[in-house]
Amino acid sequence: MNQIILFLFTVCFAASDIWNIRLPSQTKLLQKLRENRNDRKLEDVNNSWETIRIHFEFLEPPPSDILQQTNTVLDIVKTFFGRHLLVKRQTGNLLWKSSYETDWGLLTIPVSLQKSYDADLVFFVTQENNEQVEYIARAAPVIFDETTGRPIFGIMQMNNYYMKEFQGTDAKFEAAVLIVLHESIHGLGFTDNLYSNYYNSTTNEKYNFTVYQRVNQQIDLPTPRLTQLAENHFGCSKLLGGTMEDQKGGGTAGSHLERSIFYNELMTGAMMTGNSLFTEFTFALLEDSGFYRVTKHVADVQLWGKDKGCDFYKNQCYSNLQYKEFCTDPYNENDESDDPLKHLSCSYTHTGIGVCLNDGLVECPYYYVIPDLDCRDADNYDETLFSGTNFHFGYDSMCLQGGFVSKTRAVYDIGYSCYKYSCDENYRLTIIVDGVEYDCSVGGSSPSYDTNKYKSGIICPDNPKDLCQSVSECPNQCNKKGYCLGGLCTCIAGYAGRACEKTCNTYRNGIECVETCPTNTFADDFTKYCIGCPANCDTCSAKDVCTLCEDSYQLVGGFCQPLPTYSLILVTSIIALFLAI
Ligand SMILES: *[C@@H]1O[C@H](CO)[C@@H](O)[C@H](O)[C@H]1NC(C)=O
Ligand SMILES: *[C@@H]1O[C@H](CO)[C@@H](O)[C@H](O)[C@H]1NC(C)=O
Ligand SMILES: *[C@@H]1O[C@H](CO)[C@@H](O)[C@H](O)[C@H]1NC(C)=O
Repeated sequence: MNQIILFLFTVCFAASDIWNIRLPSQTKLLQKLRENRNDRKLEDVNNSWETIRIHFEFLEPPPSDILQQTNTVLDIVKTFFGRHLLVKRQTGNLLWKSSYETDWGLLTIPVSLQKSYDADLVFFVTQENNEQVEYIARAAPVIFDETTGRPIFGIMQMNNYYMKEFQGTDAKFEAAVLIVLHESIHGLGFTDNLYSNYYNSTTNEKYNFTVYQRVNQQIDLPTPRLTQLAENHFGCSKLLGGTMEDQKGGGTAGSHLERSIFYNELMTGAMMTGNSLFTEFTFALLEDSGFYRVTKHVADVQLWGKDKGCDFYKNQCYSNLQYKEFCTDPYNENDESDDPLKHLSCSYTHTGIGVCLNDGLVECPYYYVIPDLDCRDADNYDETLFSGTNFHFGYDSMCLQGGFVSKTRAVYDIGYSCYKYSCDENYRLTIIVDGVEYDCSVGGSSPSYDTNKYKSGIICPDNPKDLCQSVSECPNQCNKKGYCLGGLCTCIAGYAGRACEKTCNTYRNGIECVETCPTNTFADDFTKYCIGCPANCDTCSAKDVCTLCEDSYQLVGGFCQPLPTYSLILVTSIIALFLAI
């Protein structure tokens, strides 16, 4: 047993202490924003929306052992945003003006880079290799478009001491992409200093809201789409806004979604082992800023907190109700007599075996996936530890309670397992172990098994259908050529397919490689993607002009805005009443 305990210790806590964002001093930034605020003439803004072209400019190249990976990661991030975000371009190239501040603390923009760029947002990227600091990467927007207030120049710093750790498997590479995506989103404008500059891009008017401060320091950001989506997701019709992180001070607090409420959403405040999600919440926030519009896409689906109501949103684990999202008996790392093995369970979304702990961001402990027991990481299989357990690691693996542990071989049995699974089109879950299929379509059931062969069996998850509906994995996490969103890879130019496994020298339409883009899509030469209609739009005449929205969205200024789910329910029940009369 000692070996396993040791291995829980070393991996788990080293990783959970690394916070991935600290912004540089914001004084200058704020000053600039205030200076510009009253001069903005939003009515002059060009009304057409184009795909965003992000450019990363190295101040110095990353070290050679990470250069290639960094280049690919940045390429993926550029392609991902180009495929998903629209922006109001400036006329002509982005020009670095001599009046701009060049000293940003983290870095000084050298004269040679104070030039013009054929792009919509430029990040100056600098490197360090520092074990003493606790961030992996950090970023901030620094220069803003004078009319819209949209970030046009940003700074980013990579701490290669940690970035290097994200090399090797497809799952590790995916984590590196997530880090840069996360940082880029701050650079795109998700940072608390900018909230007061957000505006309604249909009317070009500033929102009239105040950020609501809860007694416990959590703040609620009342931007319209984020608030509406949160109301719809959590099932609470009167939220004050999207709740932001209150822990870890400046740089983290205020500029991230609250971990206790949004859990593994990419824009929560720290790296989390297991599956981070890019959900509609982040897209909503980017649109709410007024700086961006979102194109048609499939986002990752969040299960955490779904339909749990106002009480969950407001009180999290302080509620009188006990929510399954949280655990109640955290492992105490300072108590030597405590044994982490006594605090294990599958993580809430079953992507790995977790230990109940407080990760430093949450008020409420939850099952934090132990990196070496992250079922989705193919590299985690270790013959000495797992022989006889029939464990399977990879994007198609999930955590289950129990396990088919061999009777004949001496093995560790920790009470939880990683096994291969599949979901059919009716969202029925099947577990596959050693070539045998076990039906897990009924929550909490225990499929029968060969008792001569195995010591014990498994217990199916409580919510197999929900898990199947939220599955959004891509084969081999897009093979280090793309980023998986909602089960679809966005691949760098030159690749296509479900897993970016095919070469493609023309355009990509979804996972297909095509010569010309089909109707209702628009060829984009920056990303080599066929860009669809605006998000949640059925038919459109351009990528920024919707003519008919999907159900539960309304057309506002050529784009689709979510309708409150609650009013829909209300309308239906009123109709039902009429019918009854
Ligand atoms: C608005 O932007 C579009 C696309 O970038 C461009 O073709 C058009 O000339 C711009 N119009 C004005 C008035 O600047
Ligand atoms: C922007 O303003 C328009 C016009 O008042 C309104 O219909 C729309 O709901 C607003 N958009 C958002 C996201 O609040
Ligand atoms: C902004 O909202 C406040 C409170 O709801 C209201 O009193 C004020 O008149 C509003 N201001 C504008 C310009 O709409």
